[in-house]
Amino acid sequence: MQHCRENPQWQEYQDPGKGNYRAALIVDNQLETVIFISADNQLPERSWLTSLFIKEQLETPERMALLTGIPPLGVPDVGIIVCACFNVGEKTIRTAIREKGLKTHQEVGLCLKAGTNCGSCVPEIKTCCKPKNLKRLSPRRHEGHEDLKPCRPE
Ligand code: FES
Repeated sequence: MQHCRENPQWQEYQDPGKGNYRAALIVDNQLETVIFISADNQLPERSWLTSLFIKEQLETPERMALLTGIPPLGVPDVGIIVCACFNVGEKTIRTAIREKGLKTHQEVGLCLKAGTNCGSCVPEIKTCCKPKNLKRLSPRRHEGHEDLKPCRPE
């Protein structure tokens, strides 16, 4: 028996002058599809968008944020996902390295779990650990990083 989802709604925003187009298909208050087209390469964080696809019910601020392309205030910008196994973003890793004084990918793993499963992200975590790369952290759009927990690397 096929389940028929009801109440599909497209919400759209476009600014032809800047070359921006955003659209989202929401079915039964769940995110089904997004389309982002930008002339200036200013696209939303994929990790944030991904988190919206797994939500059972979108909140009104999240629906509105889909049109602005910016996560609502209070939602941490974790950056590009480096560790897919534990959904840990680049900004979260760089912030932990900077604020907790982590020096190795093993210390990052103890702190955030990143790199402690399949290990495919370890080379990128090692790159983040290099002192010359720490300054590459772009400014946060929102304060947050609630996912950072105190840790004491050994
Ligand atoms: S992607 Fe990081 S441990 Fe698998």
